[in-house]
Formats: sequence, C-alpha cells, structure tokens
Amino acid sequence: MSNSLSDVRPVVGPSACFPIGPDDATRSMLWRWHGAFGDVYRVQSEDNADASWVIHDPALVQKILVGHAANYRKGAGLDRVRILLGNGIMVSEGEFWTRQRRLLQPAFRPRTLADFNGMIDQENRRLAERWRMHAETGQPLEVAAQISESTLVIVLKSIFGADYPYIVEGESNPFSLLTEEPERNLRFAARFRRLGRLVEQLIDRRESAPRPAFDFLGHMLAARSRAGEAMSRKALIDEVMTLIVAGHETTASALAWAWYLIAVNPVIRERLQAAADRVDLDQLGRDGGHRNPDLAYFDAVINETLRLYPPGWLLSRRAVADDSLGEHRIEAGAQLFISPYVLHRHPDYWRAPETFDPARFEQGEEPAHRFAYIPFAAGPRHCIGEQMAMTEMRVHLVHMLRRFTPSYADPHPPQMESHINLRPADGIYLQLAAR
Ligand code: HEM
Repeated sequence: MSNSLSDVRPVVGPSACFPIGPDDATRSMLWRWHGAFGDVYRVQSEDNADASWVIHDPALVQKILVGHAANYRKGAGLDRVRILLGNGIMVSEGEFWTRQRRLLQPAFRPRTLADFNGMIDQENRRLAERWRMHAETGQPLEVAAQISESTLVIVLKSIFGADYPYIVEGESNPFSLLTEEPERNLRFAARFRRLGRLVEQLIDRRESAPRPAFDFLGHMLAARSRAGEAMSRKALIDEVMTLIVAGHETTASALAWAWYLIAVNPVIRERLQAAADRVDLDQLGRDGGHRNPDLAYFDAVINETLRLYPPGWLLSRRAVADDSLGEHRIEAGAQLFISPYVLHRHPDYWRAPETFDPARFEQGEEPAHRFAYIPFAAGPRHCIGEQMAMTEMRVHLVHMLRRFTPSYADPHPPQMESHINLRPADGIYLQLAAR
C-alpha cells in the first residue's frame, strides 16, 4: 500500500487487505474491527490504490461531516448509486450540488411539506383497510413488502401530485420494479433509467400546459437559481429519480424494522397504542403529528429504531486536500468510512447499546456525544427528506397501531441485509389482530 498517510501515532488496522463496500461482509468486519482496533484505524484496500480510514470517534465524525465538510466529497461505493441516479443531489458535488440543493431546499420546508400530510394520511387509511381484510384471514402478513409499496406510492404522489394516475397504468405501477426487484445491479440500473423516459413525458405534459402544482415536480419546475436559471431537463430527471429512490427505500426499511421491534416488545407496543388511541385522526391528517406531545413516544420509538437499524448504515467520503484528524494526518485522495451502525452501538456513548429502549430518547441524556447518532447524516450533505420521513413513519405507526395488535410470526429473528440500505433480508412476518 502506498504510504499516503503519515501519523504521529502508529496506525492500527487489519493486516490483510479488505475491500470496504456496502455489503454484509463489510458490516460484520467493521463490527469486529471496532472491538479490535478502536475508533480510528486504517484498512488496506485490495487494489492497493487508496488509503482507507474507518472513523468512529464522534468528534472526528463531526469534523468530517460538518467542520471540514468542504474538504470531503462523497467517496467509494457511490459509483453504484451514480449509475442509478445520474448526477442527482445524492451524488453530485461542488458548485453543481450547491446550486441543485438550493433549488430543491424550499420544497422541503416544513410549511411546504405540510401539503402532503393529507395524502400520507389517506395512503395509510387505505393500507389499514387492506391489512384489516388480511387480519380477518388470520394468515401472517409480510409487512416489509407492503410498506415498501406504500412508501413508493407516497413518494410518487409527492413528486407527481395530480399526474400520478398517468404513471400507473390501471393497477400496474412501472416504478414497482423498485419494490419487486431486490437486486441493485447493472441490469436493474438499466431498467430503472428507462423509467427516466416516463418522467420526461410527464415533464413535457406539464410544460405544454403550465399550471401551478404544489408537488415536488411543480416546485422543481418553478425553481430558479440566483442567476434566474431553471433546472436543465437532465437535472430535473436525475433529481426526480433521486427522490424516488432516496425517499422510498430508506423509509420503508426503517418502518419494517420498527414493526419487528414493536411486535417483540409488548410493553412498548401497549404504550404506543394508548397514545395512538388518544390521537385526533383528523388533526393528524392536517399536521402529521408535528409537535403533538401525545406523539412524542412515537418519535422516541422511531429514533431508537433508526439507532439500532440505520438504513444509511455506511457513509463514505474522499479527502480533497490533506487534513489532520486528531493525531492522524489524512492525505488528499484518502477514503474515509463512517458507519452509523457501529456509532449507534458504540458502548462509550450508549447505555446497554444492544437493547431496544426508546426511553433513552425521552430522557435526553444519550448519546453522550451528539455525533454518535447520525441516522440522517449531518452537515451540508445531511438528508434533505428527514422531516418528510419522520412524518411518514409517525403517521403510519399511529394509524396501524390504532387498528391492529402485531405479534412476530417467524420463529427466527430477522437477518440484516446490508447493501446501500440496511433492510431485513427476508421480510418481517406479523400476525395482526384487529383491535
Ligand atoms: C428513514 C428515512 C431516511 C433515512 C434514514 C435517510 C438517510 C439519509 C442519509 C444518511 C443521507 C446522507 C448520505 C451521505 O451523506 O452519504 C441522506 C441523504 C439524502 N436523503 Fe435521506 N433518508 C431518509 C429519507 C429520505 C426521504 C423521505 C427523502 C426524500 C423524499 C430523502 C432524500 C435524500 C436526499 C436527496 C439526500 C442527499 C442530500 C444531499 O446530498 O444533498 N431521504 N439520507
């Protein structure tokens, strides 16, 4: 390995080469190495090209993501995402990213997002009806697929609004391949990019008969840069595709894990149900439950779920210029990896880290360092959809727990599948009892 890093302190790390990437082998190695090498260590990559650092010291995480964010670009592993999402804001960099983020940000303001609350509420009422019919059969229900379909519809409706029926032909939704096809390989990427053409047709439709539209696409079409320029056609398509993928899979995985954790923790489930029973559903449909103190426990349960199973479990960055992180000197070109999965279970910052205990978020004493909890990342590249995701998850759980009591219907605990997204490998089977 080229010695691109010089350190005051001897650098520790595994002696064998290992290609760090979004896969199960990496997650289990990161966990093992954390025990062996601590918060900062170096891993030799197989191709001998770049120095790879793994960083789980929250103060250094803060420096990378916030303090020195300008020195770190998105890193390895993003190539696969780029094939899927073109140059959307998840992967773009520099001035182009700054411009696109500025153009998109107003659409994610709380007041603007409030326009979607009614739609999110309706989708969950529809889903509850489907689950009710299923509950009557007494058969276990695989909820991860159900939720994935529902969050896909929600993100599509938030983007296309009244034009949503034009992309679903009858009951067949061409974007369903996102929920039906688990692989994220090149073949999938090619099929997914073809959907870009469908998005383009919709944009043509909007442009041929302009009218105000309070959906993400409407906001994007109306957005103008400081120089008064609109987004290019390609940029629009890439951003739409980015929102579809980023806004759907992450939320779906988080909710699937939440169902598992709630189903196996009856005391927590009862407390949630008692809170759900007190909610004014009409009010929930208007405000999404924001700032409703009765729903604070729902947020604690969601936060605790995201702690144990953060969908974005591996962040990667590449150093643009030399930097120093603590006692370590990082040279330009070095790859950096931060795993929220490891940070969120770090014993120095969490009491009984393996225990599902939402109360820790009510007490406000944990984590011992703010940057030991980063399910939505932090700094300029933090998740633009955090608030929308929290609303979706809260509204979903309130509706469903009001109607059903879940029990876990699988003899084995779920296995994790760690690709770009951390999801349950074989779904989550629940027995639902109507209340
Ligand atoms: C539980 C749900 C979600 C989780 C855990 C999550 C997590 C994350 C994380 C960790 C990042 C940063 C990735 C990095 O720095 O490498 C991110 C970025 C992003 N997320 Fe989310 N996300 C969620 C929901 C959403 C939703 C609902 C949307 C949109 C509707 C969304 C859109 C985005 C976008 C566009 C970015 C890139 C932002 C940028 O780089 O400027 N996410 N998300």
